[in-house]
Amino acid sequence: MSQSASEARQGRIEVRDFALRYETIDGSVEAVTDTQIHVEPGEFVSIVGPSGCGKSTLLNAVAGFLKPTSGVVTVDGEKVTGPSAERGMVFQQYSLFPWKTVRENVEFGLKMRGMSRFERERAARTLLGLAGLEAFEKHYPERLSGGMKQRVGIVRALATGPKVLLLDEPFGALDAQTRIIMQQILTNMWQRLKISVLFVTHDIDEAIFLSDRVYCMTARPGSIKAEIRIPLERPRQQSMMMSSEFLALRRGLMSLIREESLKAMGGEITDLGMQGLSIELQGHSLPEVL
Ligand SMILES: Nc1ncnc2c1ncn2[C@@H]1O[C@H](COP(=O)(O)OP(=O)(O)O)[C@@H](O)[C@H]1O
Ligand SMILES: [Mg+2]
Repeated sequence: MSQSASEARQGRIEVRDFALRYETIDGSVEAVTDTQIHVEPGEFVSIVGPSGCGKSTLLNAVAGFLKPTSGVVTVDGEKVTGPSAERGMVFQQYSLFPWKTVRENVEFGLKMRGMSRFERERAARTLLGLAGLEAFEKHYPERLSGGMKQRVGIVRALATGPKVLLLDEPFGALDAQTRIIMQQILTNMWQRLKISVLFVTHDIDEAIFLSDRVYCMTARPGSIKAEIRIPLERPRQQSMMMSSEFLALRRGLMSLIREESLKAMGGEITDLGMQGLSIELQGHSLPEVL
């Protein structure tokens, strides 16, 4: 368990016997089934899995935007029945108000909660400082880079003092270098604020680099295929990504995900299909080659 996890007391997420089905005009879509996950107070946990396996569905149910078809989500023993400032959410697409400045975006949730102007400013400035954004407080979102916008998104989600932070592929649209810096800023804020994080990504390196634990989901309907502890010490450095320990974890997770990605593609890709495309498998099976 991480250093901060032992100090944090709040923010235990529990998802039990969870299933979620979407009802559409074309019938029902079973998105997630038979799922159990938990996040301990102060723990950093990621969910990885092939596209369409139900990661966002699960995260949105923890946020309270979606109701499970069966099962229950609790935070510190209290059932989640809708969105709450106790659970901050960050989406992949930047969801800032374009007509508000950076600081006004961050202060918005605080204003809604009736916090005084002075307190609002102080809270917003402290968090913007932690994210290296103090010089940009008066800027409008359109003038910011993608990485900056997403930092503002994280700061805004943290401003109301949530017990848990939920992030849905927050760095997916960023270039590789910005991504690494963002990962370091996020870990830094997480360690200082001692909150629990549930992080959705399809990037295996990102999941290993950030997490105490990683859940790997099956193809849709998604459920938990494996749970992997990441025993790398903290603070984590970029150079660790070259260590044999990191690479071993990466290999393990890669093969788990590859299996599920192939299943998710269903009839689209088969050994025969690949041969038909004249791809030379040289005696290896498809999962070995991909
Ligand atoms: N609002 C919706 N109505 C119907 N089906 C949906 C809806 N949202 C997602 N789905 C389907 O549920 C499955 C899981 O989606 P999602 O949770 O977004 O997966 P992921 O985030 O892992 O890519 C997908 O097959 C998707 O098409
Ligand atoms: Mg998603």
